[in-house]
Amino acid sequence: MLPNPLFLSLCLALVLTGPVTATAGPVEPLVIAHRGASGYLPEHTLEAKALAYGMRPDFIEQDLVLSKDGHLIVMHDIYLDEVTDVAERFPGRARQDGHFYTIDFNLPELKQLRVTEAFRRRGDQFEQKYPDRFPLWKSSFQLSTFEEEIELIQGLNQSLGYDIGIYPEIKKPWFHHREGRDIALRTLQVLKQYGYHSRKQKVFLQSFDPEELQRIDRELMPKMDMDLPLVQLMAETSWGEKQVERNGFLVNYSYDWMQEAGGLQRISRYADAIGPWAVMLLQKNNDGVQASPLRQRAKEQGLPIHAFTFRADTLPQGIEGLKSFEALLTLFVGELAIEGLFTDHPDKVRAFLRRHRQPAASETTPAPSS
Ligand code: G3P
Ligand code: CA
Repeated sequence: MLPNPLFLSLCLALVLTGPVTATAGPVEPLVIAHRGASGYLPEHTLEAKALAYGMRPDFIEQDLVLSKDGHLIVMHDIYLDEVTDVAERFPGRARQDGHFYTIDFNLPELKQLRVTEAFRRRGDQFEQKYPDRFPLWKSSFQLSTFEEEIELIQGLNQSLGYDIGIYPEIKKPWFHHREGRDIALRTLQVLKQYGYHSRKQKVFLQSFDPEELQRIDRELMPKMDMDLPLVQLMAETSWGEKQVERNGFLVNYSYDWMQEAGGLQRISRYADAIGPWAVMLLQKNNDGVQASPLRQRAKEQGLPIHAFTFRADTLPQGIEGLKSFEALLTLFVGELAIEGLFTDHPDKVRAFLRRHRQPAASETTPAPSS
């Protein structure tokens, strides 16, 4: 049971201002390797996925976008600009907005690109998004297809004997529909081809797009004889995760309803879990922060919370007083008792969970004397 709000606010005040003592709940959250072990190697490369695998998460995440020739490419953005050398290798292929879109390139072209850590261009200089991570343009990394990544994870499951799941995200279905493409259908086809068709397999399917998730739930999966657990990701409206046409213009879809009373009840009709930005689970009060209503509403609707994104080198902004990754995890795992978390550092989360694991009853009960 959750602590009452006053108790929780006292706990959070302690977590945020004083020494940290974790009180991990009885059920450990699912550890989801966010874009692989992306704190250590360029995101979404097969190398980052193999390293993540070795850290024993429960799931490894794949963000998916379509190529021109219909392949699902594992990458975070619909653009290639910020993780590849596309501008140098294919100058002149940007659209009018200056971006190089994955959907304008076929697989043989995409395979020619060199992948690196996320960067921004400052004139002719590259500015690394996370400066202390793997250095820019070192070694040799490539984009990969969804099939290649599934084969890597399933292959490791066979050779190492673990059962690590996949956690694909369909990126911007609205954009793909505008391009005349059906990324949700293609994703389901590949999942089914590789044996992910029911809740018995270790898979979650996520999207920021509520309409597309409802289409998957009500139309696509029944037609394909599939039944996968769906996760509704929750964005701030300003992020522009989904856009809709109004009077001939694209405007940001409003996500406000998801955080209002009744929002999670609507989501529970088609999804099995929610993926909020971690900050959405907190709200400020006079003494510091306390749990936002989202935690309790999710519990009432039976929706597990898989929050994002937990980074050891970049703590979330907006949580005042938070000083360390340990404190962050204590707050979300120990106090808010979230059911899953996306992390760039699966090894550090695993270590935290090991340190705070409660002994099983059998380990604490003395054996009866004979
Ligand atoms: O999908 C959940 C998590 O990955 C956060 O979203 O923007 O990193 O894909 P994003
Ligand atoms: Ca994602």
